[in-house]
Amino acid sequence: MRDDIARVLIPSDQIQSRVHELARQITQDYAECDTLLLVGVLKGCATFMVDLARSIDLPLAIDYIAIASYGASTESSGVVRMIKDLETDIAGRHILIVEDIIDSGLTLAYLCAQLQRRNPASLRICTLLNKPERRKAEVKVDYLGFDIPNEFVVGYGLDYAERYRNLPYIGILRPEIYAE
Ligand code: IMP
Ligand code: MG
Repeated sequence: MRDDIARVLIPSDQIQSRVHELARQITQDYAECDTLLLVGVLKGCATFMVDLARSIDLPLAIDYIAIASYGASTESSGVVRMIKDLETDIAGRHILIVEDIIDSGLTLAYLCAQLQRRNPASLRICTLLNKPERRKAEVKVDYLGFDIPNEFVVGYGLDYAERYRNLPYIGILRPEIYAE
């Protein structure tokens, strides 16, 4: 698996300390709110969600949504579709979307529009990674781990064709892997 990685972009210890900083900020910002609801966008968010939630020092609930994105390609098709909806009624709730990476922004633009219609008390976005160069749809990021260059990355939950999610760091995938 390591041989498929061109280079490590963000080592595990840097991810962990940034996640703790984000959690500290979220803990402060939502101190006065009633039970924050973290909404994870499956499946890429899973690793980040667990580490983030564990270090937020507030009463919170967790739910997940699944959206069709890349399949085995590395480019967004621009076509977005909900595969699994929330189990929670979010009307009147404080919602924080937890995402692994924002690339074109199409996924989150679609998701935010869908969730806004359900009248949450507030709706914010927390993403571990952001590729600002690639934006096609505008999204306001409230909590950001790292801006990254326009490279295809895997690890810490992020996949290529369902592989590499278990790497503890964020690595740049060798282009030969997805050019094959
Ligand atoms: P967007 O709609 O283009 O913003 O796509 C966001 C989704 O595409 C993310 O939630 C990821 O699942 C996937 N994605 C975008 N860039 C990468 C990457 O570099 N590695 C792995 N997945 C990515
Ligand atoms: Mg994702």
